[in-house]
Amino acid sequence: MTLPSLDAFWMPFTANRQFKAHPRLLASAQGMYYQSLDGRQILDGTAGLWCVNAGHCRESITQAIQKQAATLDYAPTFQMGHPIAFELADRLAKLLPGDLNAVFFTNSGAESVDTALKIAIAYHRARGDASRTRLIGRERGYHGVGFGGMSVGGIGSNRKVFASNLIPGVDHLPHTHNLAQNAFTPGQPEWGDHLADELERLVALHDSSTIAAVIVEPVAGSTGVLIPPKGYLERLRALCDRHGILLIFDEVITGFGRLGTAFAADYFGVMPDLITAAKGLTNGTIPMGAVFARQYIYDAFMQGPETAIELFHGYTYSGHPLACAAAQATLEIYEQEGLFDRAKALAPYWQEAVHSLQGIPSIIDIRNLGLMAGIELEPYPNQPGQRAYQALVNCFETGLLIRVTGDIIALSPPLIVEKSQIDQMVDHLRNILKTL
Ligand SMILES: Cc1ncc(COP(=O)(O)O)c(C=O)c1O
Repeated sequence: MTLPSLDAFWMPFTANRQFKAHPRLLASAQGMYYQSLDGRQILDGTAGLWCVNAGHCRESITQAIQKQAATLDYAPTFQMGHPIAFELADRLAKLLPGDLNAVFFTNSGAESVDTALKIAIAYHRARGDASRTRLIGRERGYHGVGFGGMSVGGIGSNRKVFASNLIPGVDHLPHTHNLAQNAFTPGQPEWGDHLADELERLVALHDSSTIAAVIVEPVAGSTGVLIPPKGYLERLRALCDRHGILLIFDEVITGFGRLGTAFAADYFGVMPDLITAAKGLTNGTIPMGAVFARQYIYDAFMQGPETAIELFHGYTYSGHPLACAAAQATLEIYEQEGLFDRAKALAPYWQEAVHSLQGIPSIIDIRNLGLMAGIELEPYPNQPGQRAYQALVNCFETGLLIRVTGDIIALSPPLIVEKSQIDQMVDHLRNILKTL
């Protein structure tokens, strides 16, 4: 295949000039592997961008999309509907824990986050509590790049050039990442659950009557796989309950099996009021996101005149037929192949494999949960991010796809990964990291 002109595509989250000088182009994919434009096999250590949980180019998903495109290509979901959107919502409600029964469809993680934040604020208003508008995020949180998600997110570089005071009335909890206390801990660390109590400080500062919701990723993914300390999420839940604050779990990464359960809420046994999802919902094939709300949230909106639209919110492509078809086929694979249980069964092997990298001098921390891992590198002096970037380039050139954020390598293979491929991934990484 010939290289296309690279000029016009302004690439997202990419050093465009660096990339276009040395492009990395993927041409096709199957199962656990990508194939590069120059014909090399590349083992997918990241499920694309944390989304291809069932592996690439699954026949039944492809067929479902093709069939749907030929049957009902598009239909609105404003004041009308199509059966597959209802069927999918029903199926998701059954998969979700507890009474997370109401499903609002979006097209991405960012839209799911903005939707959940709006639902939280509107929920309090619907109950006569209109002063609860404040939103609490967490440092090192990533919730997409919409104004809402960026505001509650806690990544300096995502915020600083877009106006520091993004949406008003936002505050942040501290993150839980602490190398001095928790470096090289397999699974959840013992230290750090007290950091949830910082919510009390924010309540004292702002008063609970102004706070609508707290949003956190149960496991922070994009800022480097930050595992919640034991008891932390439970404590956050209890504090939200005490102060009448909604708890939103952003499960765009952890949803659909990443931890070996359908959702992180199942894994931790902590019920949020709202869950945001995307990515694994359609195995990455067609953009789709969703917000899952507990029954009492939906019910709070279902009052007033029956002719009134209860939530003034939605997207042209909410519940897009092709995305619904892709999601149905994806959920079918997850269920038929028991992929969430598979991930659970593999997690101990994964843990042992990634922690076997301890001892390589450049590695200052290894952490893991489910089929996720973060490997933190000592930055080169005065060159933050360069060591991990070099690892990414060297891995790609030699046949392994990893993801890096700053000087942290994130791994999250498709849930179909074989033990031999885990070994291959870890050995590959070991050989590269020894040279950096
Ligand atoms: C936790 C979380 N929330 C939201 C998003 C944003 O998703 P999207 O890129 O689909 O808007 C991401 C993307 O990685 C994410 O990890």
